[in-house]
Amino acid sequence: MIDMDTGKDHEVKDLSLAPQGLKNIAFAERHMRSLMRIRERFAKEKPLSGIRVGLALHITKETAVLVRTLVAGGASVAIAGCNPLSTQDDVAAALAQEGIAVYGYKGETNEDYYRYLEAVLATRPQITIDDGCDLVSLVHSKHPEMIKDIIAGCEETTTGIIRLRAMERDGALKVPMIAVNDNKTKHLLDNYYGTGQSTLDGIMRATNILFAGKTVVVAGYGSCGKGVALKAKGMGADIIVTEIDHFKALQARMDGFRVMPMADAAKEGDIFITLTGNKHVIRPEHVTAMKDDAILANSGHFDIEIDVKGIKAMAKAERRIRPFLDEYTIPGGKRVYLAGEGRLINLAAAEGHPSEVMSTSFCGQALACEHAAKNRGKLAPGVLMLPEEIDQSIAVLQLESLGISIDALTPEQERYLASWQEGT
Ligand SMILES: NC(=O)c1ccc[n+]([C@@H]2O[C@H](COP(=O)([O-])OP(=O)(O)OC[C@H]3O[C@@H](n4cnc5c(N)ncnc54)[C@H](O)[C@@H]3O)[C@@H](O)[C@H]2O)c1
Repeated sequence: MIDMDTGKDHEVKDLSLAPQGLKNIAFAERHMRSLMRIRERFAKEKPLSGIRVGLALHITKETAVLVRTLVAGGASVAIAGCNPLSTQDDVAAALAQEGIAVYGYKGETNEDYYRYLEAVLATRPQITIDDGCDLVSLVHSKHPEMIKDIIAGCEETTTGIIRLRAMERDGALKVPMIAVNDNKTKHLLDNYYGTGQSTLDGIMRATNILFAGKTVVVAGYGSCGKGVALKAKGMGADIIVTEIDHFKALQARMDGFRVMPMADAAKEGDIFITLTGNKHVIRPEHVTAMKDDAILANSGHFDIEIDVKGIKAMAKAERRIRPFLDEYTIPGGKRVYLAGEGRLINLAAAEGHPSEVMSTSFCGQALACEHAAKNRGKLAPGVLMLPEEIDQSIAVLQLESLGISIDALTPEQERYLASWQEGT
């Protein structure tokens, strides 16, 4: 729909929600001080002047703060959601009112989801920002003519990086892709603390279940799984971890958790949470072995970690208990409950990551765009890391915004660390 005031195209649920969205974005800005510092600099230096940036990110208040930062830097921005359940409709309305080409509504159909990605690509972005590789995949599969105009892409999440590396291995990746997810200030903060807290928040909002005394099965002990396991333990749950990586399994055991295959964990768990980036980690045969009333949630990749189609096919009855909670009666009469349709529960039933962790993640996105613009034409196709000093600068900004200072090496310490002659 073309907005008569701004002349921009957008498609959102309800523009009258904009005042609430503006208040939520303002609140997020109060907690995203490091990103706001970058915005102030961008507003003066305009490093993205005249550059078209296309985003497929969760349309949340934190993402809106990133969008405003890119606009302050001189970019023109178009954004679609990257998950059909994660759009905050009030925020989308506020962005539309500000003249941003924004496409998405909570609960959008699959058809609309892909139509919106196409709408972003129709703006011919020169820099893409993805959370799960959607825009870049579409460019390569359906719009190869766009490749020549793309300065670089930025990827926000682990799953997207896995896909990009697979494309790179096959010689199929034709644009430079900055692995923002792999910044320390992203995956060691956002995946760990952000997913840790917000996943439990999502499950609690969907069910209001008590974690204390429950057995929680955490599938995948990467950055996200570690965060979830730690927080659930803190709430009094008994944790079982399932893994396919021997070292991660060992780490989980040494962190004090039980480790076993899903086939065994299925019989013991009260709450199951998948965070693997993999497919069909919980399948009908596991569900059949579960206790009556088991709760299933995914906070990993899209909606495929739990084999929802398989569970639906097996179920004798299915009904919606309340928003983001479906009950399945399986053969034999046991009931299991699926939260958030198996989509990212922290974004479906809660509000995604807290603003503080998104601040450092999105500093990474803003600085990746600036890095791409500065190095236009010089970055080779492939998966690239943001230079270490940029990642460090984000940690500095965030510490400063928290009012925290740290020690610096003395000249004597510097010499000691750099020398091999000085004895032990
Ligand atoms: N919900 C969110 O807001 C959010 C935020 C960040 C990342 N993510 C997603 O969460 C997923 C995990 O991210 P991460 O950064 O922790 O990744 P990671 O690579 O650090 O960890 C994933 C772990 O899962 C394990 N694994 C893979 N297949 C498995 C299987 N079949 N059974 C058990 N374990 C298995 C891997 O060995 C690995 O240790 C990704 O899909 C990522 O995109 C979600």
